[in-house]
Amino acid sequence: MPTVAIIGAQWGDEGKGKITDYLAEQADAVVRFQGGNNAGHTIVIGDSVFKLHLLPSGVLREGKLAIIGNGVVVNIADMEEEIKQIEEAGLNVDGLRISDRAHLIMNYHKKLDGAEEIYRGKKSVGTTKKGIGPAYQDKIARYGFRAGDLLEPELIREKTKFMLPMKKDLMKLMGAESCQCTEEKFEERLIGWGEKYGKYICDTSVLINDMLDEGKKVLFEGAQGALLDIDHGTYPYVTSSSTVGGGICSGSGVAPNRIQKVVGCLKAYTTRVGEGPFVTELEGDEMIELQKKGGEFGVTTGRGRRCGWLDLVVAEHAARLCGFTSWAITKLDVLNDYDTVKVCIGYEIDGKVEKHFPASLAKLERAKPVYKEFPGWKSWADSESMAKSGMGALPENMVKYIKFIEEYTGIPADIISIGPKRTETIDRYGKWWN
Ligand code: GDP
Ligand code: IMO
Ligand code: MG
Repeated sequence: MPTVAIIGAQWGDEGKGKITDYLAEQADAVVRFQGGNNAGHTIVIGDSVFKLHLLPSGVLREGKLAIIGNGVVVNIADMEEEIKQIEEAGLNVDGLRISDRAHLIMNYHKKLDGAEEIYRGKKSVGTTKKGIGPAYQDKIARYGFRAGDLLEPELIREKTKFMLPMKKDLMKLMGAESCQCTEEKFEERLIGWGEKYGKYICDTSVLINDMLDEGKKVLFEGAQGALLDIDHGTYPYVTSSSTVGGGICSGSGVAPNRIQKVVGCLKAYTTRVGEGPFVTELEGDEMIELQKKGGEFGVTTGRGRRCGWLDLVVAEHAARLCGFTSWAITKLDVLNDYDTVKVCIGYEIDGKVEKHFPASLAKLERAKPVYKEFPGWKSWADSESMAKSGMGALPENMVKYIKFIEEYTGIPADIISIGPKRTETIDRYGKWWN
């Protein structure tokens, strides 16, 4: 029952899509277990660039199952657009499966997301406005629509009678853009989705566990990152799902003892989109330089990502919560040509050096990063041939940087990524499915 999971170790956008796609080559199924289309995962195949938001990255590899687990929130209307992108590229979504227990994002969730942000004023989270928070609110409040409901017209009618008037009242109260949809239209739309996508909807927990019983290889693809976790992240500047290791089990219906390898996707520096604390954040020209070098602009919202140095206090927090067995260190090439690169190894708070990431936003506000400096390295001509040659071909100072991360965290850097393409990857481990 080989399983491998990939989880973002920072605030998202670590390169999970690329690493998932790389490891998916050998897998039989790729499973998303939390989040929704707030994610933006970029995969570069030759000259083509794919930006996936909801569909698991395995959808780009022929003959694999691409499974949307019960912990994901699904916007069917937006999913249709994504399927179109895949089909236009000459691929198909025959391998798509959607959990009958996955909750749905409706238009009213998107509108309420925007309205909540306005209410928060200066304390806005900077959400993607995809309706993620409001959809998870309905799930926890026990009245959300689930994908399986689409197959039961009577249930749709019953729920609509209660939900639509309630949401319309709520939107009015919140000053959100009003919803003109009648109950009949709303029901019709949902029943139509059931007819169109019903063939993909099933009990994905049974499906995944049966695959594992048969010795099939299952890859779990995290969205967002550990520091955006609803419990363990920089609350309230987080997303509304469990992005850490435990989320794999609750979000896919797979027991903890079936999860074997957990890869922490760690960007060689740090980025964050939206509001919230960020201890190693750079400012001014230094920040612009790194943002430009890394092409750090959001896949989902187009917003510029805030950038700063690598933070190993963050990495330790993520590793402890997720049980990482390997690092996939990405975007090391972006740090080329710096005279000095810095790594944060502690937070100085009120005269004391803290090694663990604190819960208090006020403490994070006062935290000053304690840096260890490393001499930089020069750029090279061709990442693909360098990746082919392996670690020995990397600049000596880059190898020292990688070794320090391994020593500090006690986790091996089994994947090294030095460019966005599949072929710009060094796989030092190779035995992922043994
Ligand atoms: P995700 O949300 O974690 O999947 O990451 P995103 O796709 O939002 O952002 C990562 C960006 O970095 C994408 O544009 C990738 O194509 C790109 N990328 C991934 N790995 C590397 C790498 O090793 N080097 C460089 N230069 N770019 C990379
Ligand atoms: P991937 O999977 C980076 C951030 C938003 C906001 C906060 C809450 O591409 O790494 P939400 O819409 O989820 O309620 O917004 O979380 N956020 C992400 N930041 N990468 C992501 O996904 C993100 N998904 C949400 O910017 O600060
Ligand atoms: Mg992203």
